[in-house]
Amino acid sequence: MLKPMPMPMPMPKTAIRADLLDFTAAPSWGSPSDHGVRWRPDHWLLIDEQGRIAAVQPEAPCADWQQQDHRGRLLLPGFIDTHVHAPQLDVIGSWGAGLLDWLQTYTFPAEQRMADVAVARETAALFTDALLAHGTTAALVFATVHAHSADALFEAAAQRGMRLITGKVLMDRHAPAALSDDSHDVANAERACEALIGRWHGRGRNAYAVTVRFAVTSTPAQLAMAAALGRRHAGLYLQTHVAETQAEAAWVAQLFPEARSYLDVYDRAGLLHERAVLAHGIWLDAQDRARLHDTGAQIAHCPTSNLFLGSGLFDWPAAIAAGHRVSVASDVGGGTSLNLLRTLAEAYKVQALRGDKLNAWVALHAATRGAAVGLGLGHEIGTLEPGRLADVVVWDWAHGPVATQRDTVARAQPLHARVFAWMMLGDERYVVASYVAGVPRFQRKVD
Ligand code: GUN
Ligand code: ZN
Repeated sequence: MLKPMPMPMPMPKTAIRADLLDFTAAPSWGSPSDHGVRWRPDHWLLIDEQGRIAAVQPEAPCADWQQQDHRGRLLLPGFIDTHVHAPQLDVIGSWGAGLLDWLQTYTFPAEQRMADVAVARETAALFTDALLAHGTTAALVFATVHAHSADALFEAAAQRGMRLITGKVLMDRHAPAALSDDSHDVANAERACEALIGRWHGRGRNAYAVTVRFAVTSTPAQLAMAAALGRRHAGLYLQTHVAETQAEAAWVAQLFPEARSYLDVYDRAGLLHERAVLAHGIWLDAQDRARLHDTGAQIAHCPTSNLFLGSGLFDWPAAIAAGHRVSVASDVGGGTSLNLLRTLAEAYKVQALRGDKLNAWVALHAATRGAAVGLGLGHEIGTLEPGRLADVVVWDWAHGPVATQRDTVARAQPLHARVFAWMMLGDERYVVASYVAGVPRFQRKVD
């Protein structure tokens, strides 16, 4: 059932002038070709009173459109972060641990702070504002085990008009008592999820994700309950972690000896489907990848996290060969930046370490249209197509003398060379303005 939010006030018709870049199809791996790339330099993006893209045109619109002239800047659909942990802002960049240590030493203590409703609300506000300031307008987010931490994120997103998908974390073993659901009464956590689904799923731009932390921290009974929730309610997402490190995979093999692989734990539980987003997927085999393809589930590739925690190198070409979906994600606080340009630059380096090359088109598509389509939201976000909500971000082409010089040189080169240099050198300082459904929700103060 769709529960509409109160109708927003009509906004002024807005026209933004910039160099427009988006995608009409998935670009191909390898040497960059123009397939799927839509480049409209120095165009106007027209946004109607409902915050939807009305048109894109080379000429200035008539006077009843409020004009925002970002000539000489770049405009893309807002980035979509498909895996990020709101309560982990406090532990981003924590020293000296691999995944399992890092969870115990830094992450679980930080998540316990969210037991306080006021802290959860402050964190949700800080986090959603930070996403916008980093050029991300939509996200699939981990809250904590506390139901009110999911409420706080949904509230913060609704206040900002953002597309946000989140859910209460499910954990009922191998976690601190303060962060655990009751493993003797699975129905307890189920009731909490049901209540959140009733309050938020399909309300405005919010949707609920059944949020299984990872196979280690859920009993088989809890996994079964999570799958049943997914069957009971149309359009629910599923988010979890899979095959991030070898030590974690070995633990999962001990806990689920009957499973063929780590991914198979989720498969047997009935958790893999078209709206399932599994972070990492580094230590998968060909059979796992085939199951991802067959079920429609996707991997959220988290390069800054994988490098920072020393987890491993994601085999993106193998994913393409298997035909399963791949999006990109910050995975903050294991990841080291909320900014998806920095994330894509690290994704390039991950492939370089594997002896391969990621082109800017594949990378930027994964952060925009690819993510939107993968989440079943291609009708709403991810491109600059008329009718889509105007979730768009205006970026500088360069910042500081070195990047400016590089961009000056790159202007005389093929478009891919220029955009690739932008992707490698860019970061959140490049964000000039982030619009959500046509409303500027972040604007850089100093120019
Ligand atoms: N695996 C289980 N929990 C987490 C988490 O919070 N971050 C990452 N990177 N991996 C996980
Ligand atoms: Zn994660």
